[in-house]
Amino acid sequence: MANTMTMTDNRTGKSWEFPILSGTKGPDVVDIGSFYSQTGMFTFDQGYTSTASCKSAITFIDGEKGELMHRGYDIAWLAENKKFLDVVYLLLYKKLPSKEELESFRLELKQRSYINEKMLKLFDALPDKAHPMAALQSTVAMMSAYYKRDMNIDDISDFMELAKRLVAKIPTIIAFYYRHVRGFPQIYPDLDRGFVENFLYMLRAFPHDRVDLKPIEVKAFEAVLLLHADHEQNASTSTVRAVGSTHAHPYASISAGIGALWGHAHGGANEGVIRQLEEIGTPERVDEFIARAKDKNDPFRLMGFGHRVYKNFDPRAKVLGKLRDQLIDEIGIDTNLIKVAKRIEEIALNDEYFVSRKLYPNVDFNSGLILKALGIPNEMFAAIFVMGRVPGWLSQWMEQKENAPVKITRPRQLYVGAVDQAK
Ligand code: ACO
Repeated sequence: MANTMTMTDNRTGKSWEFPILSGTKGPDVVDIGSFYSQTGMFTFDQGYTSTASCKSAITFIDGEKGELMHRGYDIAWLAENKKFLDVVYLLLYKKLPSKEELESFRLELKQRSYINEKMLKLFDALPDKAHPMAALQSTVAMMSAYYKRDMNIDDISDFMELAKRLVAKIPTIIAFYYRHVRGFPQIYPDLDRGFVENFLYMLRAFPHDRVDLKPIEVKAFEAVLLLHADHEQNASTSTVRAVGSTHAHPYASISAGIGALWGHAHGGANEGVIRQLEEIGTPERVDEFIARAKDKNDPFRLMGFGHRVYKNFDPRAKVLGKLRDQLIDEIGIDTNLIKVAKRIEEIALNDEYFVSRKLYPNVDFNSGLILKALGIPNEMFAAIFVMGRVPGWLSQWMEQKENAPVKITRPRQLYVGAVDQAK
């Protein structure tokens, strides 16, 4: 017997059958593609908490078990054994690179890491202290005008050209804007230092001066990028796919993804964690804020705790927690911020309120602390998240294209507005 689900309308007694599809892992799905044509009704799922929007072979998450995999590789294994560029390659080329493939990929990125400097005029047009995400989103949108030869998006090799261009140029745009705002002389990319180290170099260097980057600093930053590389059909990835489904080119789709990531419920959360830790100020005040987080009459929430999908632990937070402590020990910092964070963790992980609701530290709890320890200002955190997430967005965009014909994303609604006003 075929796998189907029968749905019955209790008002009329009419029944319909819908196919049940199975993936290689994770919950089965009921295919309701013909639901409207069969029943004359829509389904309603605000926030898409029960809706699979596509078939995908890129990333798998089991929130109950705290599992995250890219193309079948466990995230903790990738973080322990591979570099960010390996994972970028894995997402784009669907396999881990050999040593030679990785080196030639690094060289290809190196050749594409400079930007057309006419684009820098945009930075002058922005008011002082404009948010880095405003600069990044606009520059990426503008790239479609500068790199017109990437516009043939029907050709996979042209798409790969564009993908490499974006992965290589986004760190340069972020670092250039950071230096522009501060009036520092620009430092050009030097990918011979390694993809990740190059970014910290571009932030810190001054002409004719030495930059000493400690290996633990590069390792921790590498992990932050690697752990953000993709995360299934989250809000920004779904945005990238939705814009791509209109046949807009990838620069427009990625720029829209940057906009979606900006919000504090998504990529802006780690900025919020640091703001909250600063507001708490000292370990002695932690109890007061924990009590506020538990108080049903207070809207206060502990930032960096809880996750829509992970209800056991966030595997990314586990990796970053260890690195945070290693970084703190090795570079010898022990700020009040870190003391406050450790006290929160200590209390919340043992408190009945947090334990019974399965509220554990999420990736943002530690990524913000690591970036802060690396001397990166809070307002740059979301832009750094973009740097990590761009390979994921690109692979999801490409997968959607490969699964042609692409159906335009066009949800329906439950209309609750006025009717027949003019009668
Ligand atoms: N502090 C205090 N209580 C919390 C918190 C928190 N951080 N998170 C959830 N709760 C409580 C809720 O009050 C609710 O309690 P109740 O059952 O007594 O009413 C219960 O836990 C369930 O909360 P929901 O909001 O229903 O859980 P949901 O899965 O919808 O929300 C979210 C997940 C948005 C991440 C939430 O935990 C939160 O707001 N966390 C703080 C913000 C944050 O860290 N965001 C980053 C997410 S990670 C990322 O985007 C990369």
